[in-house]
Amino acid sequence: MDVFRIEGPIRLSGQVVVNGSKNASLPIMAAALLAEGPSTLSGVPNLSDVRVFGDLLGQLGCRVERAANGDVRIDATKVDNPVGDYEIVRKMRASICILGPLLARCRRVEVSMPGGCAIGDRPINLHLRGLRQLGAEIHLKNGYVIAQTPAGGLQGASIFLGGSFGSTVLGTANVMMAATLAKGRTVIESAACEPEIADLARCLNRMGARISGIGSPRLVIEGVDRLQPVEYEVIPDRIEAGTFMAAAAITGGELHITNCRLDDMMAVVDKLREIGVTVEAAEDGCSVAGSERFRPADVTTQPYPGFPTDLQAQFMALLALADGNSVVIEKIFPDRFMHVAELNRMAADLRKEGPAVIVAGVKKLVAAPVMASDLRASAALVLAGMAAEGTTTVNRVYHIDRGYERIEERLNPLGAKIHREDAPAP
Ligand code: EPU
Repeated sequence: MDVFRIEGPIRLSGQVVVNGSKNASLPIMAAALLAEGPSTLSGVPNLSDVRVFGDLLGQLGCRVERAANGDVRIDATKVDNPVGDYEIVRKMRASICILGPLLARCRRVEVSMPGGCAIGDRPINLHLRGLRQLGAEIHLKNGYVIAQTPAGGLQGASIFLGGSFGSTVLGTANVMMAATLAKGRTVIESAACEPEIADLARCLNRMGARISGIGSPRLVIEGVDRLQPVEYEVIPDRIEAGTFMAAAAITGGELHITNCRLDDMMAVVDKLREIGVTVEAAEDGCSVAGSERFRPADVTTQPYPGFPTDLQAQFMALLALADGNSVVIEKIFPDRFMHVAELNRMAADLRKEGPAVIVAGVKKLVAAPVMASDLRASAALVLAGMAAEGTTTVNRVYHIDRGYERIEERLNPLGAKIHREDAPAP
């Protein structure tokens, strides 16, 4: 199992290019199931989550390969095993987004129920409710969701997808994909507005779907008989971009970040400016400059366009060094605070109170051995390690590899000192 040894403090400077979005790529790869034939996707990052998803599509019957130029080709001519196996779904909960397209394509599917994970329960009740409203008959057996369409296929419907924590990103993806091939019109109210869902909708339209209201909470989908394979480029990863912004800030450095859509990141940019970080729009991205000290700020995570939960941990690392007290409230995944105890091992002063953390700013962080628990929590530990005095060891680096492609090879040319080592399994 790899570990990172991170020497700090360092100051980042230079230019970094943001990769394509993981959370846009996964549902768009699933969308390839909707069309018989080969689809080609560019900008898909080469991450372990993407490889696992490719394996899953392979098990369903697709041929998936990554070309020398990085494009991912998914040939969905044959999808003859519509079963999402527990062994893959338990590794990656995003696997659930095969449910909608597979149902529309194969009419009867079995997909393992995802369990909980480090960031919370991860229920799928809204996915199932939406698909049932399209007419699917669904029951659970031996830990699997077994879904089938009625004899006449899926039927368009009016569907409300809001839950106690707002809308659902992958639930919207599932229902929207299934509805593209349903008979008649589907209206999804309280749809997720995340840029990744808008990107999926644009890709589906390129395949021949008829979706309007893209990017809004009300999607209208006119069902069509069939979709065509597609060539499509996914959007840049706004969470990776935000992580680089926080990295520039926490190291007091200056980064020019390209392939970055600032328009998708207003809440993040606003928060950075509030704490005293300079963010300037530039061609194809932005320049971000940290300063010696930061002002404290309150952060509340919300569905898009609010502040994203996927940057909460990284910003907590940053606020740990602010001049004063901040409050971070997690409204999407109220238990997503595994990084709190680890940051405290590095001399941060964080106190969890229910779905909130009170962050008392400290003058400096101090290196320590720490444990990565989930993808974004581990990114926060890498940021803290670059700012802390001494050598920080981050264990269980595989978590970070799920969402950031060889992050050390991206940050080291900018001044970071991150060494990947193979540590013996405990
Ligand atoms: N929820 C329900 N019922 C459902 C589905 C969700 O109550 O049927 C609740 C969840 O428990 C949560 C809230 O609704 O409280 C939002 O969950 P959502 O369904 O939107 O999350 P997701 O679709 O499973 C995606 C991203 C996550 C990101 C969230 C929120 C992918 C592959 N995953 O998950 O990304 O945190 O949206 O923006 O797109 C990550 O990249 O690190 C990551 C976890």
